[in-house]
Amino acid sequence: MFVVVGVTGGIAAYKTVQLVRLLVKAGHEAHVVPTDDALRFVGLPTWEAISRHPVTTSVHDDVARVRHVALGQAADLVIVAPATANTLAKMTAGLADDLLGTTLLATTAPVVVAPAMHTEMWRHPATTHNMRVLRERGVIVVGPEEGELTGGDSGPGRMSEPEAVLEVALAAAEGGAGDLEGLRVVVSAGGTREPIDPVRYIGNRSSGRQGVAVALAAADRGADVVLVAAHLDDGVLAEASAGGRMRVVRAGTAAELGSAVDAEADAADVVVMAAAVADYRVAEVSPLKRAKEAAPVGGITLDLIENDDILAGLVRARRAGQTVVGFAAETPGEGETLLDRGRRKAARKGADLLAVNEVGWSRGFESADNAVTIIDAAGEVVAARRGSKRDVADALWDAVLAVRKKK
Ligand code: CTP
Repeated sequence: MFVVVGVTGGIAAYKTVQLVRLLVKAGHEAHVVPTDDALRFVGLPTWEAISRHPVTTSVHDDVARVRHVALGQAADLVIVAPATANTLAKMTAGLADDLLGTTLLATTAPVVVAPAMHTEMWRHPATTHNMRVLRERGVIVVGPEEGELTGGDSGPGRMSEPEAVLEVALAAAEGGAGDLEGLRVVVSAGGTREPIDPVRYIGNRSSGRQGVAVALAAADRGADVVLVAAHLDDGVLAEASAGGRMRVVRAGTAAELGSAVDAEADAADVVVMAAAVADYRVAEVSPLKRAKEAAPVGGITLDLIENDDILAGLVRARRAGQTVVGFAAETPGEGETLLDRGRRKAARKGADLLAVNEVGWSRGFESADNAVTIIDAAGEVVAARRGSKRDVADALWDAVLAVRKKK
């Protein structure tokens, strides 16, 4: 395969040396097109030696062979790694002031980008907008990963490892779209808050991390994703909003979340209720802050009314071909197992799948890892996964695909 590897000016360029090496080792013809800035990080001789082809950055070299468009025309695949915020912006605008720019405009081959930049730049609305436009145009995005960045800070922004970029790129070249391509999915995440008065609420400890991992996994696997987000932790919301990977709809209370999910569910193939929804709301929300001096001495009683069960409503309204998935966070008591409780909930809710996990004072929340057992409507275990919230999310989507195949 004729592969063009665009390299732009980021420190992660050193990782691309390994990517080119892997391509060549796998028998592909690799042509490296660095930007001038990229050459400040890794020099031209390295690229020529590793790719075994001459390397230039300028549209004025090798003019006789119309190199400025020839590479793009010949390419079966174009990879841009690392892709800086600047290059992504130039790609969005269609700028062609160097050889990489002209190559990208001249190609009809699949284009895969591996963004790398500081977290702030990745989360900037300009970058988010550019990523959305590029994705709409069919550009395939790998990463960025979360982790340590140059300068000691950490967050999303690291370029994915060369092996991961290669895997996605080769799949793209074979026309291998993500396995959720064409599916419209709605994922709720976070925890609702039920107001008591203008300053107080009844809430829960959900950060939204697991739900957002489910939404991001779906987006990475090609689905069209709407995230209905209730009070996500700041970093989690930023991660969900960055890069234009999904549409985010904000909701506060259980009633708001219910309306948003119901409205979005009409057009959805899969709905995943990962949000922690309050079972009860305060009967009379005080328009003014409740003052202690107006309250009875010794304590007060709040009247609570039951909220609608959104998941049960989705199951009742489920269309043919639609898959409804719930989560169940449980604290099993004496003499019963997590699965017993999960099975009772599955029977009560009727969702196609229920992801059951144990929670407790020091379990499940605020942690990067999770352990779930996924059961079907009959209570049969279809999968179990312990690992990062992303691993759990991928296991959930595998189970969704399996259950949809069966139907
Ligand atoms: N759920 C919902 N609407 C509610 C309460 C819960 O849609 N009013 C959904 C959650 O998003 C989750 C599933 O139902 O997918 C299970 O939530 P959970 O709180 O574990 O179950 P409950 O039905 O509230 O049962 P209990 O609190 O008694 O365990």
